[in-house]
Amino acid sequence: MSELIEFSLPMRRPSPFSPPALYTQLREHHPVARAVLPDGQLVWLVARHDDVRAALKNPLLSSDPRRPGFPEPDTSNRAPFLIEMDAPRHTELRKLLAAEFSPQRLAVLQEHIDGDATKLLDAMLAGSGHADLVAAYALPLASLTICHLLGVPYAEHAFFERSAVTLLSHDDAKKGEAFGAICSYFEQLLEEKKRHPSDNLLGRLIAGPWRAGQLSDEELLNIAVILLMAGFETTATMISLGVVTLLHHAGQLALLQSDMALIDEAVEELLRYHTPGDTDALRVAIADTEIDGQPIARGEAVIPLLWSANRDPAVFPLPDNFDIRREQRGQLAFGYGMHQCIGLNLARMEMRTALRRLFTRAPTLRLAIPLAELPFRYDSELFGLAALPVQW
Ligand code: HEM
Repeated sequence: MSELIEFSLPMRRPSPFSPPALYTQLREHHPVARAVLPDGQLVWLVARHDDVRAALKNPLLSSDPRRPGFPEPDTSNRAPFLIEMDAPRHTELRKLLAAEFSPQRLAVLQEHIDGDATKLLDAMLAGSGHADLVAAYALPLASLTICHLLGVPYAEHAFFERSAVTLLSHDDAKKGEAFGAICSYFEQLLEEKKRHPSDNLLGRLIAGPWRAGQLSDEELLNIAVILLMAGFETTATMISLGVVTLLHHAGQLALLQSDMALIDEAVEELLRYHTPGDTDALRVAIADTEIDGQPIARGEAVIPLLWSANRDPAVFPLPDNFDIRREQRGQLAFGYGMHQCIGLNLARMEMRTALRRLFTRAPTLRLAIPLAELPFRYDSELFGLAALPVQW
């Protein structure tokens, strides 16, 4: 591979279940490779599992898109989101948020997820024997969960679904509009919560760190926005991709249906197999450093390929097989290191509940149109499905 590799964010996959062939070549021959983005920017691609982990643990690689050299730089003047911050402020905010994702808090959310999944399935299965699983189940379940987490009134969940989906489109004008609408909505909600304390994530952050002066108005708003943006569509996507993948691998689905205790393994394998946030963990070097012996100079961009790491045969033998009995751990769909997904256990809980309940209550579920005709979103920032027509 003597020529410069042309890379785009995201790199288009050749089929719903296969990463770009480039990833195999990179892992085998050029584990840390120079590539060029469509706008001409040079970046380093990191393809192997151990190198991706090392990169994500390296404090000299920054997540701040305002720094020169960052891939897809942010030129707006808004305050950074948690995902875009470096230590020490990032570490302080993570600490303030950690209690909100504790096992005790997640247990309360589990009850909501159970109740919502039951209601959504009651409504869907009472219908005519076919439905769009994205609209009827995956999207509302994920958006209701974020509403419960943040303390957003139930009536707003449809607005959130629309806005969050628009944020992932390629239409910059529409994206800007949706972002503005979400920010205005949260600004009002936070004012309301400051006047009337409530027992939910935003209410508790207001009563605690915000009142104590540890959290600014802007940081509070940004926490609400990033939890919605990072936590909703990702999880909804993994639920619908999970359904398609299990339906397509009938033997694996039969195994799961014969022993639902395998659901934890099935969820880990689905996350490894699809890794929807493949190129979410962008970085830039803030000082000279190295990855696997390759010098990376200050100001150079680094793209750890999470999906390539998750298909690395050095860690996952026969990595392109979908195998819910796989014993190897360490999949990187949630990233690694200081920015590792704060909602990872919530996402796992939602996926577990959604899939277990669906395949228990609708054991004869099947695709209503052939796999090749499903509207996969190949061009979206987050790979997924615009709709999933099913029958039972
Ligand atoms: C299957 C679903 C999900 C996937 C695949 C996913 C993936 C990721 C990845 C790869 C990162 C790391 C980005 C980086 O290193 O720069 C991340 C960070 C993050 N995720 Fe998730 N995520 C999911 C669900 C959620 C949920 C449910 C929430 C919260 C409700 C959430 C909130 C966040 C936040 C706030 C960050 C930033 C953490 C930080 O910078 O310290 N995510 N996620």
